[in-house]
Amino acid sequence: MKKVNVNYEKLYYGFPVVLVSYYDTDGTPNVTTVSSSYTLRDMMALGFSSKGYGIKRIKEVSDFVVNIADSSMEEAVKFCGSKTGAECKKFDSIGLTPVASDVVHAPVIKECPISIECSLTDVIESGNHLGITNILAKIKGRLVAEEHLNREGRLNVSAFDDIIYMGDGVSRGFRNMK
Ligand SMILES: Cc1cc2nc3c(=O)[nH]c(=O)nc-3n(C[C@H](O)[C@H](O)[C@H](O)COP(=O)(O)O)c2cc1C
Repeated sequence: MKKVNVNYEKLYYGFPVVLVSYYDTDGTPNVTTVSSSYTLRDMMALGFSSKGYGIKRIKEVSDFVVNIADSSMEEAVKFCGSKTGAECKKFDSIGLTPVASDVVHAPVIKECPISIECSLTDVIESGNHLGITNILAKIKGRLVAEEHLNREGRLNVSAFDDIIYMGDGVSRGFRNMK
């Protein structure tokens, strides 16, 4: 494979798109779109631009839910990834359904096939990466849509249709997992 050097500002090599939901200052549910995430055992890691509204609020409220979007939710992903929660209540605007989590103080998005309930443990804002806030959280609960489970109650991997985001800052797009 012959490779060439590319001078992109970023290179996102294919990440699942998630909707991170939380309660706003007045108690109403709100949500922001994120592609920078991973999970390892009972830890969740997310990366944010520090100026976003969602991350500011999550630092205050601590609890949040990582909801995995599927291909039917592209409009919500784009809306929640272009409008700021500082100016709108995105659940209402885009018609998402909030359901109170039993284990954290945050709303679960009913329409998403997977929701991971989290409590903030670490905020990392390094002088080496100005403008970026990374957070780590303890996973308190995991919810999966019944119809996406096999008879043994384990993941039916072929049922999932996550949205995968890839881009270089100029050229960007979605692929679906199915
Ligand atoms: C597909 C997609 C992925 C995104 N991933 C991230 C991300 O990983 N981190 C981030 O800070 N912003 C990300 N954004 C941008 C934010 O969602 C966007 O700036 C949003 O308007 C911030 O809303 P807020 O101010 O309510 O937090 C993404 C947007 C899209 C459309």
